[in-house]
Amino acid sequence: MANTPVKVGIIGLGRSGWGIHAAMIRTIPDMFQVVAVHDRLAERMEQTAKDLSCRTAASVESLIGDPEVELVVVASYNHFHADHACAALAAGKHVLCDKPFGLTVADVDRMIAQAEKSGRIVAPFQQRRYEEDFLKVKEVIDSGILGDIVHIRTCWQGFKRRWDWQTSRTYAGGALNNNGPHPLDHAVALFGEGEPSVWAQATRHLCSGDAEDHLKVILHGAGHPTVEIELTDVWAYSQDRWIVAGTRGGLKGNPNSLEWKWVDWETMPPRPLCMESTPDRSYNGEKLEWHTASWQPAGKDTASGAGAAPPPGAVLLFYRGLFAALRDGKPLHITPQSVRQRVAVMEKIRAAAGIPVKL
Ligand SMILES: NC(=O)c1ccc[n+]([C@@H]2O[C@H](COP(=O)([O-])OP(=O)(O)OC[C@H]3O[C@@H](n4cnc5c(N)ncnc54)[C@H](O)[C@@H]3O)[C@@H](O)[C@H]2O)c1
Repeated sequence: MANTPVKVGIIGLGRSGWGIHAAMIRTIPDMFQVVAVHDRLAERMEQTAKDLSCRTAASVESLIGDPEVELVVVASYNHFHADHACAALAAGKHVLCDKPFGLTVADVDRMIAQAEKSGRIVAPFQQRRYEEDFLKVKEVIDSGILGDIVHIRTCWQGFKRRWDWQTSRTYAGGALNNNGPHPLDHAVALFGEGEPSVWAQATRHLCSGDAEDHLKVILHGAGHPTVEIELTDVWAYSQDRWIVAGTRGGLKGNPNSLEWKWVDWETMPPRPLCMESTPDRSYNGEKLEWHTASWQPAGKDTASGAGAAPPPGAVLLFYRGLFAALRDGKPLHITPQSVRQRVAVMEKIRAAAGIPVKL
């Protein structure tokens, strides 16, 4: 068993179920193998089963009841995730649940409770936690070289119209539930331990549904950096993905290139407060000696952001970690409990911005 591939059933065969999960699983046959698929679109399901040489399941119930399936990948519409995950766990399957990992903390709690009751793993597909640029930004911040971090901004911007179900509140679409779980997951990690207070505003402009396509969130709290998230489809001129402001310097950049600079205040003269007017009427000023550094990703994980396909390197790392958990009993890298924290912040954002969970 230890070295055999994990037998997988996939619910939902769209951009994610087919384009991310099946596409990745095909490249790692020693670890995972799709044995059954289900989609409410019969033609899509038949074609996928042919392409993957696997069975079709006539319903969600029949997929999760398939005795050969060990792991169910839930890649259905957003509002089905928690129900599908809980049903699969109750049937004794492990679950990989795509984002959003439930819409509410109550959703997350019932998935965790069912996983514990069934003695199975529920793994939130929060694969962008492996993104190289995010990890580098965190590393630079944690190194202390930028001093105390005052402000962090992460921007997921574009200018486009969208008219699919992800723009409708009926299926729990909208910027917050759709792409939101990714930058918010990064933001919560960078905010640090503790519960952020939340300011949020959500509006709809270009999409055809009734959900927000422009979302601004600010996480704040004493002793923490202010963390600003800009997630919008009405931004014709894009800004850097990352801006970090610290008391010794700052960082800026994008998934394919980051740069940062800092000063050593210790090497400079002290500046005690002087209450007199400057003798030459000048403003205070001094020459700063900047130290600089930069980073480029080693791999090809540069495609990123709203609408971009998730980097395959991050997906592979996720699947490797899941395999180690399923076959070698290693702890999950990305735990449901860690994602619960982010879902709690999403609930605060909904309350602050007046976003219903779903209609
Ligand atoms: N982690 C990521 O980076 C990432 C990227 C894209 C999508 N997603 C997530 O994946 C999920 C699917 O999104 P998508 O972009 O693939 O959508 P999609 O519209 O391309 O595909 C969804 C598929 O699921 C099927 N489906 C939905 N509900 C079903 C149900 N109850 N029973 C059977 N089939 C069902 C649909 O028929 C469709 O084929 C969403 O929750 C989305 O948030 C995650």
